[in-house]
Amino acid sequence: MNWESSLIKNLGWSADIINIGGKQKVAAQIAEKVKDGDVLGIGSGSTVYLALLAIADRIKNEKLNIKGIPTSLEISMFCSKLGIPLTTLFENKPDWLFDGADEVDPNKSLIKGRGGAMFKEKLLISCSPVNYIIVDESKIVDKLGTNFPVPIEIFPQSLLYVEQELKQLGATNILLRPAKGKDGPIISENNNLILDCKFNDIDSNMEKNIKGITGVIESGLFIGYNVNILEAENK
Ligand code: 5RP
Repeated sequence: MNWESSLIKNLGWSADIINIGGKQKVAAQIAEKVKDGDVLGIGSGSTVYLALLAIADRIKNEKLNIKGIPTSLEISMFCSKLGIPLTTLFENKPDWLFDGADEVDPNKSLIKGRGGAMFKEKLLISCSPVNYIIVDESKIVDKLGTNFPVPIEIFPQSLLYVEQELKQLGATNILLRPAKGKDGPIISENNNLILDCKFNDIDSNMEKNIKGITGVIESGLFIGYNVNILEAENK
């Protein structure tokens, strides 16, 4: 198995998941928006990966000169493999960005971070003037927290303190995200831990309140960001 298929397997992207028609349709819509000279913020996840495949085709066929700023190691590796040149926030600012999401509510607020990349995803979205969130209909919810907990990246030694403070904010269940296929917790790209937290009510202050806890690096709550939602039917 080459590294690309082994990474896809490790990420849990079964053929079923990445071949869902809905995801492929929104991925194609993103590729159509790319213009020569663009600097793209590139989110993470399987929908983003599908968009990269379509963008790589355009680069090859139309000799487009674009650069991407990736939000995770896995996406950097896919970009390199697909011949999509990369840059960093030290040198460039994104002209626009695309990313996936785990949940989208009617106010266009999001839960992200199933892949644990929410810190860099939020940094890029904050730097980018135009943002597209690409989802299939399974991600649309009436209320954030319906299907997914809120991922929170924390400095490891702050674990007990942060847990105590999250309970004060109303967390009803806090799970230390386990490593895949081995004992112990998962370690983020920034060498931190990730907590998956269930809240019964997520109000508009929740993102700021979580971020206000010393030890919290970032949460997967994106409330009130300037995002355009591109949604495709799951067929
Ligand atoms: C990773 C993310 C992803 O964008 C989110 O999990 C959606 O993933 P997928 O497109 O595979 O459904 O936030 O941190």
